[in-house]
Amino acid sequence: MPAPRLRMRVPAPAEAAAAGRRTERRREVLARSKGRATDGGAPHAHAAGTAGAGGEATNGRIPSRAARAPRRGFVSLVGAGPGDPELLTLRAARLLAEADACVYDHLVGDGVLALLRPDAERLYAGKERSNHTLPQEDINALLVRLAHEGKRVVRLKGGDPFVFGRGGEEAQSLAQAGVAFEIVPGVTAACGIAAATRIPLTHRDHAHTLTFVAGHLRDGTMNLDWPSLARPGQTLVVYMGLAGLPELCRQLVAHGRAPSTPAAVVQQGTLPTQRVVRATLATLHERVVAQGLKPPTLIVVGDVVALSESLFPAAVPAAGLALAAD
Ligand SMILES: C[S@@+](CC[C@H](N)C(=O)[O-])C[C@H]1O[C@@H](n2cnc3c(N)ncnc32)[C@H](O)[C@@H]1O
Repeated sequence: MPAPRLRMRVPAPAEAAAAGRRTERRREVLARSKGRATDGGAPHAHAAGTAGAGGEATNGRIPSRAARAPRRGFVSLVGAGPGDPELLTLRAARLLAEADACVYDHLVGDGVLALLRPDAERLYAGKERSNHTLPQEDINALLVRLAHEGKRVVRLKGGDPFVFGRGGEEAQSLAQAGVAFEIVPGVTAACGIAAATRIPLTHRDHAHTLTFVAGHLRDGTMNLDWPSLARPGQTLVVYMGLAGLPELCRQLVAHGRAPSTPAAVVQQGTLPTQRVVRATLATLHERVVAQGLKPPTLIVVGDVVALSESLFPAAVPAAGLALAAD
């Protein structure tokens, strides 16, 4: 009798790639549900309900040990970028689509939140200037609680979680509670706004040093290292500095920066509502008041600010626009 023929179907390359992606994806989800953090965060143990893992139905049978184990929660501290949803990372977009719960700050726009599942829990944590909707300790406790409930949690923060975003404090609290977590970087406001306004933050002819500072006012003053910030040859980017703008300009000039140094304030950078005021250290505050700018704003000081106009040549169309036919 002839030996039976073994028939094999060789998958097409695109099909094989898709299957590979599915396997990779399953491994990733499994690792997450086991609470394995990619950055060394420790998995945690916690009590949960009597349903099987992830709420599986058991149909009266004794569930396996794996199925009896509670689903472990996982927190992703995700940078949402400066506002334009297209500046999100692919990882941030995927995590939003998978999240059971999302705790978000006030600078996170609707375009980003629209990527959540319709049934995902949305929890507003606030943090507008002088109007902290939830104190930081309560936000920390909320993240731990949601993770202990076995949820995939996205903690969504404007810009990058580790740039003036209290991501460090939230990561410390999760680590202390033994909750598995990861950090997903985002485009920080300085970089998003530099691109949107065409202010190159460094340039070999103008700025070799780039400094980010928080410009909070405490008792009407800013406690900053003025001699170092006033040194020429650097670009200074000030977050949260609008209320202290006159003090900022005054101190930089008093410590040696030329009053003619170019400077700009950008409101709601990267969004369709973006507004930009360009002036000098001597005139910036007056111009900003005249234009009525409101937070969120970012201040950029340095010679590079003067370059931006030359980077908007009238003859070159903006990216994405078709050239007009002659
Ligand atoms: C609490 S800090 C958070 C910074 C954020 N983690 C980041 O990396 O951009 C908030 C400040 O960032 C600045 N900021 C954030 N997004 C901005 C935007 N789209 N336009 C202007 N400033 C922005 C403002 O100075 C605002 O007060």
